[in-house]
Amino acid sequence: MVDRFVNCSKSLKLNGLEVFPPTILSPMAGVTDPPFRRLVRELSAGRMGILVSEFVSTDGCGPEKLLDKPQAIFYPEERPFGIQIFGRDPGRMADAAEILATLKPDFIEVNAGCPVPKVADKGGGAGLLKDLPRLQAIIHEVKKRISIPLTLKCRLGWDENSINVFDTLKIAEDEGVEWLVVHGRTRVQGYMGFADWNMIGEVASRAKIPVVGNGDIVSAAGAVAAMEKYPVAGLSIGRGALHNPWLFAQISDAFEGKPVRTISAAEAMGTFKTYFNYMLEDGCPDYGALGRLKQLAARLCKGIFPDYPEFRQRLLTSETAEQFLERAERFCETEAEGRVFEPERLLNLNGLKTDEVTFGRQFKG
Ligand SMILES: Cc1cc2nc3c(=O)[nH]c(=O)nc-3n(C[C@H](O)[C@H](O)[C@H](O)COP(=O)(O)O)c2cc1C
Repeated sequence: MVDRFVNCSKSLKLNGLEVFPPTILSPMAGVTDPPFRRLVRELSAGRMGILVSEFVSTDGCGPEKLLDKPQAIFYPEERPFGIQIFGRDPGRMADAAEILATLKPDFIEVNAGCPVPKVADKGGGAGLLKDLPRLQAIIHEVKKRISIPLTLKCRLGWDENSINVFDTLKIAEDEGVEWLVVHGRTRVQGYMGFADWNMIGEVASRAKIPVVGNGDIVSAAGAVAAMEKYPVAGLSIGRGALHNPWLFAQISDAFEGKPVRTISAAEAMGTFKTYFNYMLEDGCPDYGALGRLKQLAARLCKGIFPDYPEFRQRLLTSETAEQFLERAERFCETEAEGRVFEPERLLNLNGLKTDEVTFGRQFKG
């Protein structure tokens, strides 16, 4: 809970617009597709900042084919919206950025943070942190070919012995990057342990461009604390929004100095229908939609029914989307009364008990 409200009036500037609140839904491949992004935008009642596509690979096909990739598609209400690209080749990245810019996103983002071996070990994503001249060449070439803003998302470095986020910042500044999103972990950490917010703060305090902090923000209170304590220009939030798609509305309440809204269990259950409709509009087949509904249910139920696994089970064993939605609706009518969604139960995304930053290894160095 936020026990004291702040008036956080910081905003991110984009194409002459002041984006308030300065919050970004972090790109998450396989999750933040158009239906999920639209759901988050809707639940934030227009009070979240920026949406970003899932990352788009620039390898493996000609640039024109990129226009057909589902990851590049977005809806007008998603604006301000950025398309994120990854790859290792400056020429291909620049070609991709140029062609994707024809879709008229508000910005293009280069990914220098993805830790997964099939990306990073081939030199893309966080692999670029092992080869900063290459990263600089990519940023330089992409920047030359687009007239919309370019942003960069990075990690602290490859591993704890090669923290180079200050060099990455220098590249971003020298090449005219609009803002730098810093995920406060190394590549080798993957998603282990906690993000190092002191390091994010240090980057932000030395930067001449806006720095957006990223890692482990899961509540309005956490967002307020991060904005107050560190000189970041904004926050990028991923997994917290997966478990609580109202998080941006709650953060906005806190930033505007209003009481943070609570979400009733019935309201939480009611969102499945909205999500389903967005999936249908997006052409998602029924069985695919059922799988996605179950994924969302598994996450939301942790915040509503930690003591009521039978209900979660009821949703997760639904055989069709229709049955799933009926079960959720019946719950709203008969059992939801008085229950509230309590995502604070999930304050810890990775199961650790302390908030100490540790340099464990999730991926081989
Ligand atoms: C399932 C999943 C997929 C992700 N995909 C991307 C991606 O496509 N591009 C990217 O920059 N980061 C990606 N990330 C990293 C997140 O954007 C974010 O940096 C990370 O989860 C830390 O933020 P959080 O603690 O708020 O979740 C992904 C993370 C997860 C969990």
